[in-house]
Formats: sequence, C-alpha cells, structure tokens
Amino acid sequence: MIRKNSSDMQVSRVYHILSWEKAFKSLSIGKDSTLVEIAPGAGTHIANAFDVVTGGKGKYVTFNLNKKLTSDFKNQTKELNLNTHIIEDNARNLPKYIEKETVDMVTGNHAINDILETIIAHNKGIDTIENDYFEIAPRLIREYEKVYLNGTLKNLVFEDFIEIIRAIYFVLKSGGCLVLNYYVYPVEIDWGGSLPVRSAFVNLARQWISEADLGLETFSLEGFDPKWWGFFRKCHNDEAVSQ
Ligand SMILES: C[S@@+](CC[C@H](N)C(=O)[O-])C[C@H]1O[C@@H](n2cnc3c(N)ncnc32)[C@H](O)[C@@H]1O
Repeated sequence: MIRKNSSDMQVSRVYHILSWEKAFKSLSIGKDSTLVEIAPGAGTHIANAFDVVTGGKGKYVTFNLNKKLTSDFKNQTKELNLNTHIIEDNARNLPKYIEKETVDMVTGNHAINDILETIIAHNKGIDTIENDYFEIAPRLIREYEKVYLNGTLKNLVFEDFIEIIRAIYFVLKSGGCLVLNYYVYPVEIDWGGSLPVRSAFVNLARQWISEADLGLETFSLEGFDPKWWGFFRKCHNDEAVSQ
C-alpha cells in the first residue's frame, strides 16, 4: 500500500509512469501504436508514459464516464503531443467508435476497482457520471466491500464486466494485449475498504477473464508482480467471440 503524504504520492506517480513505460517497451509498443485507456478519471500516468515511448506520435483513445474528471483529464493532457481522442462513454461501447482489430494495447491504470464499483453503482441507481466522483467514492467503496464480503459480487457484476472485456477483445489486434494494474491508495481504506478485499482486484479479473474463455490468454512479464499487474494477449484464433 502506498503511504500518505504528498511526496509519497509523487513518488508513486513517477514509479507507475516508469512502470508503464517499461511495460510498453517490453511489449513492443512503438511510435505508430494505437492505445486505448479505459476509466482514467483525471489520471494521466498511462498518457504520459505512452507520450514518452511513442515520442508523441502514438494514437491514444480513452473512454471515461465521469464528466468532471474527463474535463480535468483534458486540462492535464493538453500539453502532450499525442494524437488524443477522449470519448465520454462506457468502455463497453468501444466497438461503436473503434474498428475491429485496430488497437495494439488496451490499458487500465488503477481502474478495475472503478469499473466494478461503477457497475454496482449503476445497478443501485447511483449516478457516477454527473456527480462529483470523490464525493460518492466512499459509498462506492463501501457498497463494493459489502457485496464482496456477502458473496454476491460475482452475480452482480460478472456479466457486465465480461461485456467490457468482450468489447476490448473486439478492438484488439490479433496478438495485441490488455494490461490492467492496481495498487491500494490509503484513502480507499479510510473510506471503508479493506486491504484483503482491495488487494484481490487483479486476481479476480484474471480468474473471470479466464473463465469467460474469450480468447485472451494471461501471461506474466518479468519485473511485474502478478498480484498487481494483469497481462492478457489476444489469441490468433478469434472464433471464440462474436459481436
Ligand atoms: C477515480 S477515476 C479513475 C482513477 C484512475 N484510473 C487512476 O489512475 O487512479 C474513476 C473513473 O472511471 C470511470 N469509469 C468507471 N467505469 C467505467 C467504464 N465502464 N467506462 C468508462 N469509464 C468508466 C469513472 O467514470 C471515473 O471517471
């Protein structure tokens, strides 16, 4: 768990940007690559790393739902050279905007939690689009904790989560990768999350993606702890999925 003061947060930010750069280089992301990021909020770790690795020549597309965070994201990325497309829609609608098998990598930085919490929130009628995200975040975390601990999480979220993964599969090139990471911010614990529950996101995503058997194979990358990083590659046979 990363610690609390602002210099620790800054160190964490630099560490994660460098980690994404390393992942991109290890997975052969080059100057002409197309990358999709899902659910960045106002977070720019991936956009910054992709800007560096592609020398500002990459094509970056992001899907984000919360209006205020999208506006903050726009402000914070305007200095980047990247060819950036910001789409204010649910990641499950990727195929409405992006052609089949045109994307080199789909990514989510600290996003599995937000995706699952948003599914639960929408089922409960909580608006995560217009509301201030950080005002409702404690409630989202507590609702997640509740359904995880009472054993109803999978029933509630599995189908919607896999619908997003299926959409990701559709846009990925054959051999392209999905990369998801997660780490625990102390504030998530202050807001009612627990360390064991919040440490399980990557493994949960790995289990469910494997169970859905869409044609995304999990793999490990040297230097990346599988507890916090999930790597998936699109198999060459795409018969497993229909859109
Ligand atoms: C707290 S922010 C994300 C934080 C960020 N990833 C980081 O680096 O810490 C959560 C964002 O995820 C978005 N989100 C959650 N589920 C989504 C989905 N299915 N499609 C698009 N955006 C989604 C929310 O609308 C919100 O803007």
